[in-house]
Amino acid sequence: MRLDRCHNIADLRRMAKQRLPGPMFHFLDGGADDEWTLRRNTTAFDDYELLPNHLSDVAQVDLGTTLLGQRLAWPMLLAPTGMSRLFHHLAEPAVARAAQKHGAFYALSTMGTASIEDIAAQGAGPWMFQTYILRDRTLTDEFVERCKAAKLHALCLTIDTPLAGNRERDRVTGMTLPPRFGLKSLASFAAHPRWAFRLLTHPGFQLANVAHRVDVLSKSPMSVIDYVNSQFDRSVSWKDVAWLVERWNGPFVIKGVLSVKDACRAVDVGATAIMISNHGGRQLEGTPAPIDCVAPIRDAVGDRLELIVDGGVRRGTHVIKALALGANACAIGRPYLYGLAAGGQAGVERALALLRTEVERSMALLGCRSIVEIKPEHVRRVGAGKPFR
Ligand code: FNR
Repeated sequence: MRLDRCHNIADLRRMAKQRLPGPMFHFLDGGADDEWTLRRNTTAFDDYELLPNHLSDVAQVDLGTTLLGQRLAWPMLLAPTGMSRLFHHLAEPAVARAAQKHGAFYALSTMGTASIEDIAAQGAGPWMFQTYILRDRTLTDEFVERCKAAKLHALCLTIDTPLAGNRERDRVTGMTLPPRFGLKSLASFAAHPRWAFRLLTHPGFQLANVAHRVDVLSKSPMSVIDYVNSQFDRSVSWKDVAWLVERWNGPFVIKGVLSVKDACRAVDVGATAIMISNHGGRQLEGTPAPIDCVAPIRDAVGDRLELIVDGGVRRGTHVIKALALGANACAIGRPYLYGLAAGGQAGVERALALLRTEVERSMALLGCRSIVEIKPEHVRRVGAGKPFR
């Protein structure tokens, strides 16, 4: 397969599957338990239909928007994902460059294999850093200082990971961090010599932001789940969030909100935005699809929060549906990682170009010239026969 023959995100996924050893592909692609939430995240978009208003003079279509005070070429954020180096040796900096080139926000994960400073060095961004409130509060505090010094544009706190979800594919494949040539994975690595060659010739897999405090990875390979569980503090509460919002004192995103109650708490602690997210179906199985949570949350918070929909977005029409239901932007995780695995920076760019073209085409077909023209009147539940709200 070749990148220029990938015509949608599903094609990039197929190419990523060919390129990656099984343990890495399934770590990227998988979800929790029976993966019902993972599947539902995307299929839930099928419960909505789009209502065009034709003959609206769509000679010019402008996708530009503002998110967290930053101008974007289109309403898209590349969600934080850990350990991109598992998928391509150029890792997070390659993703950040692609995002910048295509006018999207990029969020670096605490679990990234590049540092806050590495990302800031890629250019003007806009960049965001995703943190957790870790057991080691000094480390969270240090992240805030480093983000300020590196002039990152926003801070994001993920709240849906007091411990790791049950990702059974990782148990089956024997996925460990850092990747090791164990018996279980040996055959798969041998079948993907290009990937294995790069792993060996570009050594130094490390969690760049935490390695200086947590050298657990250098001691012995651990299962991903054990690693995550060793880091998280289950006692974190909204009081800690308020502390972090105040400490950062800038655009602040809370990631992992699904309920109206948590959205209202996000307003109370002074957040700028929330990511309506179930962590891409990797945490609590059985949670609703983010797209189904948008309208009730928008109704409850009005314009007091910016809303980012994260999970299951695979098509431009998914973005349009989210915006029509009240979102300000969408975020993607796996779609750009498939691109990264398929072809490094060029693969991420392919994913972004495909999605952006789909958004632009669908806007014109819907009869909308700008993002603000996409309204609740353009969407309704399948079979409802009347506008959604
Ligand atoms: C993630 N996600 C994630 N989220 C987060 O807050 N911190 C993290 O370190 C990670 N790591 C991570 C790794 C991988 C491989 C994936 C696929 C996802 C979740 C991510 O930010 C986002 O919520 C989902 O990926 C969105 O769903 P889609 O777009 O993948 O369907």
